[in-house]
Amino acid sequence: MPTSSRQRQVAILGATGSIGTSALDVIARHPQQMRASVLAAGGNVDALIALCRTHRPDHAAIADPALFVRLRDGLLDAGLATEAHAGQEAIDALAASNNCDTVVAAIVGAAGLSSTLAAARAGKRLLLANKESLVLAGELLTREAAAAGAEIIPIDSEHNAIFQCLRSRDASLEAGVRRIILTASGGPFRGRSRSDLAAVTPAQAVAHPKWSMGPKISVDSATLMNKGLEVIEAHHLFNVPGSRIDVLVHPQSLVHSLVEFIDGSTLAQLGLPDMRTTLAVGLGWPQRIESGVSGLDLLTQGRLDFEAPDLDAFPCLRLAWQAMDAGGSAPAILNAANEVAVSAFLQGRVGFLSIPALVEHTLSTLPHEAADTLDVLLAADSQARQITETAIARLPNA
Ligand SMILES: NC(=O)c1ccc[n+]([C@@H]2O[C@H](COP(=O)([O-])OP(=O)(O)OC[C@H]3O[C@@H](n4cnc5c(N)ncnc54)[C@H](OP(=O)(O)O)[C@@H]3O)[C@@H](O)[C@H]2O)c1
Repeated sequence: MPTSSRQRQVAILGATGSIGTSALDVIARHPQQMRASVLAAGGNVDALIALCRTHRPDHAAIADPALFVRLRDGLLDAGLATEAHAGQEAIDALAASNNCDTVVAAIVGAAGLSSTLAAARAGKRLLLANKESLVLAGELLTREAAAAGAEIIPIDSEHNAIFQCLRSRDASLEAGVRRIILTASGGPFRGRSRSDLAAVTPAQAVAHPKWSMGPKISVDSATLMNKGLEVIEAHHLFNVPGSRIDVLVHPQSLVHSLVEFIDGSTLAQLGLPDMRTTLAVGLGWPQRIESGVSGLDLLTQGRLDFEAPDLDAFPCLRLAWQAMDAGGSAPAILNAANEVAVSAFLQGRVGFLSIPALVEHTLSTLPHEAADTLDVLLAADSQARQITETAIARLPNA
């Protein structure tokens, strides 16, 4: 494919997922300005090859090394010049390489940390969807990005909304910001009491009323852990203490978040719940580019409602707040316990209410410590996973 010297070269890590396919949709609308040069996925090799047929990247990588031959042969059979790679290290190397100037970090979970960090250290424009990497290692990641001149553009709709209101990531008091307010849809179980939640199924939990997302984040939305992870994410991205971050449930998911300034002004960003808008902001910034998303017709939408989150029915939000206040390795422990618990819930091994119970158990079992190195954080992540797995194995029906 002929490339102009100013054409943005985009690596999409997590290309086969919900965010990855939305990013590819936006990129394909702007063939003169940008192209997908690198695509990476976890284990879904057939979906990755299908994306390569359509988008013709220079490089494709699969995390599972055992799938290298299938990827290489599939690309050859398709008559593509795309070079095949496999393994986590190959994905990290591609994210840091000259094959891209922009990285969409859309791998789900802590598995996305090393490639996100590699892109930050290489000074890329980093479209950051992988919130777990900020929860696990937010201080380290933002520090290394700043040192390397990497420009982080938040892709989570709430943080992207705040970024748009501020036109930067500076939410300091000096910049006149009093507080930031994250909105939450409330998920599929909004309004239910704790006892009503005991028997909910994975299929009910992933059926989000407003957003179409991957299974892990959908369950996180149902427990409100997603909002808890986002509070920690906002703390790192915008360098604000938890005392200046609020959460407001807004079931229509049209107001994506708000910023209150010291003069009494509040700015909000509104739009239909479609991640192509935030990806277009990240790919085009500071220009505005077409995303394929329609504008918002407030007359049709009718009304905007707001309510306080129910921390009794959804204790994950409280646990995340506590972990952020504790600092050090506590958010990494919270994140790891949650990933294991959500995975067990999706496999039908534990009930919905076990998710907060397991996270609370792991947080109280594993002492948190100061965490300024990646090794300490990864050790906390690994220990927390083991403690949570052991606790699951001891549950009556596991
Ligand atoms: N979806 C949304 O609307 C949304 C909104 C805000 C933030 N986010 C965040 O964006 C991230 C992605 O979410 P999603 O909903 O797009 O998830 P998803 O649909 O489940 O997709 C996950 C992607 O990650 C890949 N992957 C998994 N493990 C990997 C590994 N070890 N190495 C490389 N790739 C791996 C998957 O590849 P395979 O298909 O090969 O398994 C897939 O491409 C999450 O951190 C989520 O919290 C998502």
